Amino acid sequence: MSNIAEIKVGEQTYQLPLIEGSEGEKAIDIRKLRAVSGLVALDEGFANTGGCSSSITFIDGEKGILHHRGYPIEQVCDHASFLEVCYLLLFDKLPTQQELSEFKSEVSDNVLVPEEIKNFYKAFPRDAHPMALLSSVVCSLSSYYQHEDSNAPDHFRKTAVRLIAKLPTLAAWAYKTSIGEPLVYPDSNLGYTENFLKMMFSVPNKTYQTNTDMAKALDKLFMLHADHEQNCSATTVRVVGSSEANLYASVAAGICALWGPLHGGANQKVLEMLTGIKESGGTIAECLEMAKDKGNSFRLMGFGHRVYKNFDPRARVIKADCEKLLAGSDDPLLKIAKNLCDSALQDQYFIDRKLYPNVDFYSGLIYRAIGIPTDMFTVMFAIGRLPGWISQWKEMMDNPERRIARPRQIYTGATPRDFPPISQRG
Ligand code: SDX
Repeated sequence: MSNIAEIKVGEQTYQLPLIEGSEGEKAIDIRKLRAVSGLVALDEGFANTGGCSSSITFIDGEKGILHHRGYPIEQVCDHASFLEVCYLLLFDKLPTQQELSEFKSEVSDNVLVPEEIKNFYKAFPRDAHPMALLSSVVCSLSSYYQHEDSNAPDHFRKTAVRLIAKLPTLAAWAYKTSIGEPLVYPDSNLGYTENFLKMMFSVPNKTYQTNTDMAKALDKLFMLHADHEQNCSATTVRVVGSSEANLYASVAAGICALWGPLHGGANQKVLEMLTGIKESGGTIAECLEMAKDKGNSFRLMGFGHRVYKNFDPRARVIKADCEKLLAGSDDPLLKIAKNLCDSALQDQYFIDRKLYPNVDFYSGLIYRAIGIPTDMFTVMFAIGRLPGWISQWKEMMDNPERRIARPRQIYTGATPRDFPPISQRG
């Protein structure tokens, strides 16, 4: 096949390079489109447009494949830990035992946050959504470390470790503030996920015992969320970083993008949807009809995906864990979720549109089993996705052809006209 694409416009034919990725994906390189043709491409939501080349994560939406730097997500979940995946994404290699131990120590040494940050938690309303708090305190970190250039290559590792180490502390403190309990300081004697659970659920007047099964389940959930190509929040981090804003500000912007119910906020909406069915006594059929009704803004949360037109491989992993962790449980929401999923997968509307369960459909059920409140589900997603955001930002910053993100548009407004005096306006 030729490595040239030809675009015919009227009598003119324009040639543009065709490029191919390592997994056989092909793209028309339109970086010179406007120069050679005067034309721009329009692609609302970028469903057909790549914003970058990347070697971090590959997804095959038709086959339901996901791998990180070549390692299939199923094998990663079976053999790795979340911090090992962080290392793989950040430094493009699986760590040796020595490298992993050093990385874990660096993270463990950085779990404390500047004491003044506590004032943020006092200033927000008690019922503030934790994602509002999280994005604010993460951005504030740039002020505490403003004398270091987080964009400088030799500061990257330090800044990346700082963010990965401190996010669980900042997240747990948002939860503690929302329930009026004392903030719990991190414990460097515990592993990453055990430490987070202790900060979430321990209280000063009682001895806390970590539930290792739950810690393992949560560590796997963090791994399953670690990176996902150019999703909305990763693209946001790249776009903000492309202006050379610092890494803290870029990650804070990613947290805000993830908050949306169509993206990372979906896991919270799934639980609210399941709870709504349970409490309203509504039927699965009624729920599906609402999701199919174009006159209704309701969507089946946790279903559908811009890329996956097959089962989300992460949903497969979580579904199996869900059934194992909740085997024998009488959680009515699990039963509703199972019936809803089975019915949707047999419904022509969902079949025709290739709408399958995505990672958010099941993750909330495990968070709920661990005791994490619904409005903290998207915060869990943010902790998991953080190494992906940082890796995407670093890959963009290391690109010698990096340019500030500034898309074009097609103007459809009024053409030039004289400015009327106010006395002559209708
Ligand atoms: C995540 O990008 C990533 O990788 C994201 C993510 C990651 O790890 O970063 O995987 C995490 O965000 C998962 C998605 C979580 N969001 C939800 O579960 C919310 C519910 N899903 C939808 O809102 C929707 O499926 C999206 C937002 C996920 C994808 O939207 P698209 O690609 O823009 O799809 P679309 O709106 O063009 O839908 C195509 C058709 C439309 O119907 P028609 O106009 O063709 O008749 O499918 C319908 C849509 O109305 N549709 C749904 C639906 N999702 C799509 N109808 C009912 N319920 C749904 N959930």
